[in-house]
Amino acid sequence: MRKKITVIGAGNVGATAAHCCLRRELGEIVLVDVTGNIPEGKALDLAQAAVLEGHAARVRGTADYADTAGSDIVIITAGVSRKPGMSRDDLLKTNLDIVTRVTAQAAEHSPEALFIIASNPVDVMCGAALQAGHVPCRRIVGLSGVLDAARMRAFIAGYAGVPLEAVQGMVIGEHGEFMVPLPRLASINGIPAPVLLTAGQLEDVRKSTVSGGAGIVSLLGYSAYYAPGMALATMVEALLNDSGNILPCSVYLENRYGARGIFMCVPARLNAQGVEEIIELELDEAEKTALDRSIANIGSNMAKAGLNPA
Ligand code: LAC
Repeated sequence: MRKKITVIGAGNVGATAAHCCLRRELGEIVLVDVTGNIPEGKALDLAQAAVLEGHAARVRGTADYADTAGSDIVIITAGVSRKPGMSRDDLLKTNLDIVTRVTAQAAEHSPEALFIIASNPVDVMCGAALQAGHVPCRRIVGLSGVLDAARMRAFIAGYAGVPLEAVQGMVIGEHGEFMVPLPRLASINGIPAPVLLTAGQLEDVRKSTVSGGAGIVSLLGYSAYYAPGMALATMVEALLNDSGNILPCSVYLENRYGARGIFMCVPARLNAQGVEEIIELELDEAEKTALDRSIANIGSNMAKAGLNPA
């Protein structure tokens, strides 16, 4: 049976995620936004692009949550995004209200749906979605590591002089300034990255990955959307296809990696029910210390948002 994917927020990230899901023929798309005719206009454009792309797009734009009823997946991209000089944490107050409101409405119409949260700061917004939607925690995942690891893989491929697809890699922790790229564990067709890259290059990769999103914001004046859109489609595909693929995502942690009651990015096995399993990696001392900073920052933002942990 055809799957139904609702994308809330028809801005750059939402529309690009819709496009990527359509091109991969993952399901029919309902694009929701409150801003005038935008969702309808984007839906028409996407449907007409499909003629040339050669797939059967089923996409419509709407401001009415009734049209989202019975969705298998709801992707939440609604809210404001960063301007140059802003951190993801600066968006907290504005996006908290928006994510809380749209999650509650979407969950009411699709009580069985899986939720993918993209609004920032994403780890805290996942907590807001959990509270707002009464959705079981395993059915909520946040966009973070798939995107951050793609950025890291691109930087490693550049240093190693290999094609992009040769590189595998993992990023964990907060989707923000305290994220924890793990270039030590990256591989180039099975060859550990530290065999091919110097310590200095690995450190450059780490730093470039952490500042990857902000670098694009300062060049464009607004935040990235091609890689975030593709990352969202990758997550949708893993979930809807019941694939068992292990992807780094922001997931609910209860006594895992030393975290309690927060969402944070770690490797997670995804299936049609959401998060099936969390994989615990062995970290060295520096990585553990960095991850503890992630946990503390998410916890303090959760407290600021009135969502418990400190
Ligand atoms: C970025 C946004 C999606 O990293 O947080 O580009």
